[in-house]
Amino acid sequence: MHLTNVLAQWYLENKRDLPWRKTSNPYYIWLSEIILQQTRVDQGMAYYLSFIENFPTVEDLANSEETRVLKLWQGLGYYSRARNLHFSAKYIVNELDGKFPATYKDLLLLKGVGDYTASAVSSICFDEAVAVVDGNVYRVLSRIFGVDTPINSTKGVKEFKLLALELLDRKNPGDHNQAMMEFGAIQCKPQSPNCAVCPVNDKCVALAENRVAVLPVKDKKVKVRKRYFNYLVVQANGFTQLNLRQGKGIWQGLYEFPCVESTGEIEERELMESEDFNRIIKGDASLKLFNPKMVVHKLSHQHIYTKFWLLTVDEHPAYKTPWKEVLEYPVPILIHNFLKDYLTA
Ligand code: ADE
Repeated sequence: MHLTNVLAQWYLENKRDLPWRKTSNPYYIWLSEIILQQTRVDQGMAYYLSFIENFPTVEDLANSEETRVLKLWQGLGYYSRARNLHFSAKYIVNELDGKFPATYKDLLLLKGVGDYTASAVSSICFDEAVAVVDGNVYRVLSRIFGVDTPINSTKGVKEFKLLALELLDRKNPGDHNQAMMEFGAIQCKPQSPNCAVCPVNDKCVALAENRVAVLPVKDKKVKVRKRYFNYLVVQANGFTQLNLRQGKGIWQGLYEFPCVESTGEIEERELMESEDFNRIIKGDASLKLFNPKMVVHKLSHQHIYTKFWLLTVDEHPAYKTPWKEVLEYPVPILIHNFLKDYLTA
């Protein structure tokens, strides 16, 4: 049997029962695909269900406050995806009269929608014959065909897209694309796949050449930048201070405690003598380090070494956030985890 047919049969027998597989509403499929770019299916499910419960239609999402969208996204990371979801929902409602774009080309015009999402939505919802290539598909194709072109190189991206397109079932592009992704997630797993029970083990170049463990190939990662954050957790008689994070960098649109960034790890004295500290903190303060061991928060391009400093201070108009409202703010997961420990300590 041809590879495409084997995968289709495998999918029929093995596909998971997932909520977004019961609909072809492009709004729901779009939501699920954006969420699944950020996390695995098991974790993504709760986020998907909470999004469609809170925003059953694209109008509901468009009419929401951005803060609420970010709060529901909390924990998934890469918050620009959530801001783009919200932005695009408003665009669909206000500029397209609420009509969801129905072709690969038109979907690409939405902010936050690239080749992957446009291919997924147009094939799953509108039967357009375009091939999806996500991390799962790269792995499946690189192994079955024994391709070692780096998947994060320009050449690799082109090569794998072409290969995926050659394999595409043009009559059933949506199911085919989902079958490829599902096959990668369940059968052709990154670590120690069980090739003995694989339905394509007779065709797999990587298996024949004993290269399963080394495929796909990825070019070396970019250098990781180390950053040092000192969060000032103000305790001023029922008030603290949360600020909207400024700038174009990480966590735009999220809230955090005032932060003194340093070039390396610093101790209490150096912190108290810093210019930023004295700009933020009014009057006398007594300091206590909450986490003697720095918390390391790892993002793709930076590792953030964090200290949370508890500051007992007098009330001051500069400290405007009531402690009882703190949990309502969308915050980076780093702050969320701190709050969980701090509030139950
Ligand atoms: N991963 C991301 N989207 C998927 C889908 N539609 N089916 C299976 N795995 C996926």
